[in-house]
Amino acid sequence: MKNRYQGRSLAVIDDLSREERMYLFMKSRELKEALKEEALEVVDRFRINNPDFGIYEVFLEDSTRTRESFRNAAQFHGVKLGTLHAASSSFNKKESYADTFDNLCGYDNMIFIVRSKLEGVCRWLEKSGREYARRMGLEIPPAFINAGDGKHEHPTQELLDELTILEDNKWDTSTLHLALVGDLYHGRTVHSKADGLTIFDKVTIDLVAPPELAMPDAYIKKMKAHGYKVRIFSSIDDYIKAGDVAGKWYFTRPQLERMGEKIRARQDELRGAITAREDQLPQLSDGTVFYHPLPRNKQYPTIPTFLDNTPFNGWERQSANGRIVRIILLGLIAGTIGADFTGKVVRKDNNIEEDFIHEVEITGIRSGKRYSEGVQPINEGYVIDHICKGDTPGEIRDHMTVVNRVLKLTGRGGEWVSRSGDGYKGIIFRPGDLVLDDKMIKKLAAVAPGCTLNHIKKGQVERKLRLTTPPRIYGFKEISCKNPDCISHPEHSEGVPADFERMGDDTFRCVYCETSHTFKKVWG
Ligand code: CP
Repeated sequence: MKNRYQGRSLAVIDDLSREERMYLFMKSRELKEALKEEALEVVDRFRINNPDFGIYEVFLEDSTRTRESFRNAAQFHGVKLGTLHAASSSFNKKESYADTFDNLCGYDNMIFIVRSKLEGVCRWLEKSGREYARRMGLEIPPAFINAGDGKHEHPTQELLDELTILEDNKWDTSTLHLALVGDLYHGRTVHSKADGLTIFDKVTIDLVAPPELAMPDAYIKKMKAHGYKVRIFSSIDDYIKAGDVAGKWYFTRPQLERMGEKIRARQDELRGAITAREDQLPQLSDGTVFYHPLPRNKQYPTIPTFLDNTPFNGWERQSANGRIVRIILLGLIAGTIGADFTGKVVRKDNNIEEDFIHEVEITGIRSGKRYSEGVQPINEGYVIDHICKGDTPGEIRDHMTVVNRVLKLTGRGGEWVSRSGDGYKGIIFRPGDLVLDDKMIKKLAAVAPGCTLNHIKKGQVERKLRLTTPPRIYGFKEISCKNPDCISHPEHSEGVPADFERMGDDTFRCVYCETSHTFKKVWG
């Protein structure tokens, strides 16, 4: 049977389906029991046990738990563990991520554990690693595990968080009521919760953070799309006052290293809203547990150290689970375990075949509608109609400039903003012998979805196309992700071509950092 986990990368938690994660947690449970009972034969079945199997840690940001738990997990497996000393590496000579990892792949390494300030790095390396494997004739491409990328995601932390919550829930997945408390804006571990908590059937999430550190809308939207009930509070005091307080609290520290100067200057005031105080504790229900991905700030811990020796302490069990889930994850990706998994696998496929160029019947139009350029009827050329329908005249004019620029619609003709129903629409007229080929028409659909394209010959509409929103926008040099921390952002010169996939609400998500864009922003 084919092992569905083998060679897979983990860039975001959603790369593993709910079933795949539950299988991983069951294996973690089995391993923990075997270790506790010292059932060595059972424990040995989990080991990769191959000194030539290469795992490499590349940390471009500081770490204790993630790096060391993976190192301990690799030692458990009896494999070859390499470490790139990023601070003294050729990254300092402006070597790209792709070149760096291609070289490390060449030394027979199969799994890379990568922490970076840039976001979307593992998704990019997954692609570039596949290309490297093809060039080098490798049977299995290298796998990349995201050990935290900027403020984006921390999927392996999510795995250990979920395991700990499941254990504390006595493995009941029917409901979860969880408070997320702290820097929800910059904290990547809480962002992974948006998709991660889908292992529970009914989820209530209470977001507790001052507005400056609030959860970004995109993650709240995702939580609601998953059916979670989401409540929002600006401080622990407000939360307790409102009532119906969760029995599980997940704290995350103010991420000073990611904050702008203005917010950092107000850290003392902001921290007060998200730090647990002794007088608040009697108001919490019996059995309340606190979690924290750690580290705590030794001067200003948001979970004060006097709570260490109390039943509130869930964070130490949580941290110890880090080694366990990472042992299992490495074993699954190596193909040592997981062959008996038969559940649902997430299939990432952004090569969706979908028609977004539709021919419109023109029998009636041929004898009727005639387009003119000012007072002159157009005899030959193109008219692009219904551009940015519904936007303001100013927005429409701005975007028509973008359409002209990316399609190089220079020369004769002009632009017009016209009334359309209760609102406005843009029209571009291009008389003359311009020819828009299929590639340009696809580009037009991506830059002006919803428009119609009229090809006029002998004063009449010869061909009319309605262009709807394409499922993907990629392959154009004029597009870029607007998140300055994304690996594909042009400022980083990593040679990563921008690539966007359409979401349910017709926004476009960068496939690397997952930042949401309107189609206009993609081209802006
Ligand atoms: N929780 C966590 O990622 O800790 P480190 O930054 O120490 O790896």
